[in-house]
Amino acid sequence: MVKIAPSILSADFCNLERDIQRVSTADWLHVDVMDGMFVPNISIGVPVVQSIRAHTDMFLDTHLMVEKPGRYVEAFAKAGADLLSIHLEADMPPAIHAALDQMEALGVKKGIVLRPITAAEAVVPYLERGLDLILVMTVEPGFGGQSFMADQLPKISAIRALIDRHCPGCRLEVDGGVNAKTAKDCIAAGADVLVAGSAIYGAADIPAAIAALRG
Ligand code: DX5
Ligand code: ZN
Repeated sequence: MVKIAPSILSADFCNLERDIQRVSTADWLHVDVMDGMFVPNISIGVPVVQSIRAHTDMFLDTHLMVEKPGRYVEAFAKAGADLLSIHLEADMPPAIHAALDQMEALGVKKGIVLRPITAAEAVVPYLERGLDLILVMTVEPGFGGQSFMADQLPKISAIRALIDRHCPGCRLEVDGGVNAKTAKDCIAAGADVLVAGSAIYGAADIPAAIAALRG
């Protein structure tokens, strides 16, 4: 069963509680954290995650677009994130492993993220140690509302095969330019969690848009 994770990057931050309630028929809530260094944009941080946690029971799928993300694992875990995903490109491999160790120790689910340039094979050492999620970016991270990069579909299929071989419980999430049409391609390639910002918050009928993404 595919899970849908609306990205609150497309919400109205002055009406965040209302906009979280509007996506209550979805499964997870996708929270985009941007530091202005790993990506050019700055979005939200630890205090906002803490406030969201106090107002919803939804699973908080927290995407850290942050340099040296190990610096912030403890703070986001304590703020109430259920899952933290960190970019492989954001630090050297030993530091990425150390950040994942920290997530395990804190009891938060752990994920890794690949920018479009990063090859599928890069995930193998992480799958071998055990992961809860791999996130494949289908836009350059930093902004909502960009077009889906269809050239990432073979990478999604390749990672699906690697997950099935090394770590079958791991979920495969896709983020960037996902709409009712591209969602079908992602599901066919083996994705089982779909992030969508503009396709959900830009829709006149949000529950219908969420249902359409399920395929
Ligand atoms: C982009 C973010 C995405 C973004 C997706 O860096 O990671 O989660 O909100 O937005 P859409 O669905 O509009 O591409
Ligand atoms: Zn994201």
